[in-house]
Amino acid sequence: MFSPPMRGVIIKDPNLQSSNQDQVEESILFAEPTEYVSELSWINSLDTYKEMYQRSIEDPEGFWAEQAEEFLYWKEPWSKVLEWDFEDPHFSWFVGGKTNVSYNCIDRHLHDGRRNKAAFIWESDERHSKVYTYQSLYTRVCRLSNVLKSYGIGKGDVVAIFLPMVPEIVFAMLACARIGAIHTIIFSGFSAEALRDRLQQSHAKVLITADSGLRGGRINPLKNMADAALLECPEIQKVIVVSRLQQRINMEPGRDVYYHEEVARKDIKRHCDIEWVDAEHPLFILYTSGSTGRPKGVVHTTGGYLLGTSITFKYIFDTHEDDVYFCTADAGWITGHSYLVYGPLSLGVTSVLFEGVPTYPDAGRFWDIIERHGVNQFYTAPTAIRSLMRHGSELPLSYDLSSLRVLGSVGEPINPAAWKWFYRVVGKERCSIADTWWQTETGMHMITTLPGIMTMKSSAAGLPFFGVQPIVITSEQKEAEIGEDGHLCMKYPWPSIARGFWDEVDNTRFKETYFSPFPGYYFTGDAAMKDEDGYYWLKGRVDDMLNVSGHRLGTAEIEAALNSSPDVAESAVVSFPHDIKGEGIYAYIVLKDGIVASDDLPARLSGLIRLKIGPIARPDVIHVVDELPKTRSGKLMRRILRKIASGTTDIKELGDLSTLVDEDVVEMIIKSRPKVSSSGD
Ligand code: WT7
Repeated sequence: MFSPPMRGVIIKDPNLQSSNQDQVEESILFAEPTEYVSELSWINSLDTYKEMYQRSIEDPEGFWAEQAEEFLYWKEPWSKVLEWDFEDPHFSWFVGGKTNVSYNCIDRHLHDGRRNKAAFIWESDERHSKVYTYQSLYTRVCRLSNVLKSYGIGKGDVVAIFLPMVPEIVFAMLACARIGAIHTIIFSGFSAEALRDRLQQSHAKVLITADSGLRGGRINPLKNMADAALLECPEIQKVIVVSRLQQRINMEPGRDVYYHEEVARKDIKRHCDIEWVDAEHPLFILYTSGSTGRPKGVVHTTGGYLLGTSITFKYIFDTHEDDVYFCTADAGWITGHSYLVYGPLSLGVTSVLFEGVPTYPDAGRFWDIIERHGVNQFYTAPTAIRSLMRHGSELPLSYDLSSLRVLGSVGEPINPAAWKWFYRVVGKERCSIADTWWQTETGMHMITTLPGIMTMKSSAAGLPFFGVQPIVITSEQKEAEIGEDGHLCMKYPWPSIARGFWDEVDNTRFKETYFSPFPGYYFTGDAAMKDEDGYYWLKGRVDDMLNVSGHRLGTAEIEAALNSSPDVAESAVVSFPHDIKGEGIYAYIVLKDGIVASDDLPARLSGLIRLKIGPIARPDVIHVVDELPKTRSGKLMRRILRKIASGTTDIKELGDLSTLVDEDVVEMIIKSRPKVSSSGD
């Protein structure tokens, strides 16, 4: 019988003896799971995991069919578990099966004794909390579904959601799912122009928004932005406005209606029949950055997606009936979709929905929430951990965090220093950390350790989840050796794999992005290495994607925004290491002839980015150069720009420059490099 220790045992920390403090902090740590976690773990030993994993890859269809029966309610059974093709990519899971996500996330719990259980606890920016039971979720969702139906919205129609973290964002998602409408959430930190592009691309008919959002005491005027976007979105017929701050706002007669008035209409019933849909009916579209300026509308469907999110939610966070789970992500990202809304609700768990920011009213906010609500599972991002670490350990140590059992990390590779702080100060060396590697396109967690049964290695994500078959492939298209870096790919589909891009009929871009680089495999865009224990170490993106505070941004979209300035001739955007954000944004700018770099240029360009994309995409550094380094064939040498942005000042360290048109360009760039602060100040 496997009996793990009560406290984490550090079995390898090679640099602990070192006198260099930074080195100690960033050294790798291996920690064994504790009995505190393992005594409750659903998967009770490593051998059980291995057996289940083996089964899941030897007989994927048999395995997933069993899970689909265990985890979901099906109105009608499927006739075939899986049809797939990686060459001409298409995937159908549970073909012919009929189900409904809203039924699985709400109705079935009403009959399972969870009617009066908290579905979620909403924690407002002002530190008020409000509990929503499964019964109240049911009524609110049904009413909103009926409102949508009264506008003629039904199966297959797209509803756009531009809301802050208010309870209505959850009601809206489930109301769409209930009637077979497809939701597309646009993160409320995006700008009016970004909203407009996504509304146009999705062909949404209804927009659900709010007067304003409130985060950290700051007001974000969402309705004003929506009004600006809607000037160019004639397909939107109705705008439903949540009155978060009871502000006086412009209401367009005939088009704009108040949420609270609509759901209270006399003709709106408290019940709404379920629209049973095919397992492959689209559930949502979520826009994410791609290698061109045009965002990619990733489509997830009903059955496979919900199965993927609920099974991973149960086993990876190891949630139990009375647990309280807290995910700090915004519902506008995939983490919010899968692990704030769909995973937890499908299992009937109670979660915290937090409107605010980690540092308001002070940097103890997360710990305060954990203490007050008795949180058992806490899921956040390395960037948040690093920013809270800066405030010292006294704050977290002054709260009662003893309810915590499982800690989760997501968004980027977690550096060992942040991992250790999370493990020691927050988890008291007894909680398990699940560093969950996955993507918008994977829909569900793919690689992580399972709590209570697996050794954790700071900054290695871990082992593949059931049914997930990773492979690391070198540039020569061969499988990498153990310990060798390569490209992370997948050999076989999983239930929640993205089905394509919305409104791109032939799906060429989908194929080119994921299935052409390594024929026969799904390519993730990440570099990785597999170690001798089968653990995957993630090494960041290998494409033109930036990972800023765990958010994916495309260099192309930022460059397009910069190039739209009348002053800018050309630009190149790369990342550089940033202490808090993980990656910072470094923009090289070539000005048009006759334009001189004025003092207000950086502020103006930053303002432009805020307008075109949103504040998350604002560059940390703007470096005006005379020319960009290009090859004779005119290709931009990003590799060189990345090195200079990261602080390389010796031209000899830049590698082969022989293909450059002009080496002097590089020297000039190095000489003019501004001083860069990467500490987030
Ligand atoms: C990219 C996906 C998945 C939700 C958040 C981001 C990076 C994500 C990890 C992790 C190392 C990670 C990858 C991936 N990433 N989680 N635990 N360890 N890298 O979703 O915007 O679709 O970005 O985020 O580079 O490809 P996303």
